[in-house]
Amino acid sequence: MLEIGCGREGGLVEPLVAAGYDVLGVDPNAPEGDRFLRTTFQEARDELSQAGFGAVVAGRVLHHVEPLDESLDLLASLAPLLVADEFAANRLDPAAQDWYEGQYRMLRAAGATPTGPSSLDDWRSRHQDRLHSDDVLLAALRARYDELVFERVPYLHRWLEGPSSEDLERSLISAGAFPAIGYLWAGSSTSTTRSSPAADR
Ligand SMILES: C[S@@+](CC[C@H](N)C(=O)[O-])C[C@H]1O[C@@H](n2cnc3c(N)ncnc32)[C@H](O)[C@@H]1O
Repeated sequence: MLEIGCGREGGLVEPLVAAGYDVLGVDPNAPEGDRFLRTTFQEARDELSQAGFGAVVAGRVLHHVEPLDESLDLLASLAPLLVADEFAANRLDPAAQDWYEGQYRMLRAAGATPTGPSSLDDWRSRHQDRLHSDDVLLAALRARYDELVFERVPYLHRWLEGPSSEDLERSLISAGAFPAIGYLWAGSSTSTTRSSPAADR
């Protein structure tokens, strides 16, 4: 398996290895080690094209990827399956923002240190113009893969990390108070080209 955007902590590489998979993580910020390449998957195209991957895993990275179409063409050529854990910042509406920022303040007041931003306006001014919206990314994915899984899921609890953040967020989404910001997506590609016989990764 290939994990793109595994991050500084190595993402799912070690858990997947523990589950019996042969995995390579690619990220300019990847940890050091044999199971990681410290570069972008676009830069590593030639090396990755030789490997014969069974699946690509992408955790919170596809919404950053540029140029989107060429990069997805490359991923679809590398493995017949793509599994993505995604985030649609464009779905953060005023109700979601109010709830998130209120929860953030409450957790801080209780001595916790949420990993997300304290102000979504500040966060948007720094990031949002550079992120693909869910409609753009989903259209690009569906143009290259047959959709197997598409599920909207809570996301803000991952920034808050409070003991009941996930349950609260899920129940507010179910009640229609604000939209789900996260989504899980998987698709199969018929355009995978294997330059070597199916290998271990
Ligand atoms: C938001 S972090 C997600 C890290 C981890 N997957 C997670 O879910 O916690 C996005 C990561 O994608 C990496 N990244 C962005 N563009 C990339 C590319 N073209 N190839 C590989 N990694 C990339 C960044 O360096 C960053 O570590």
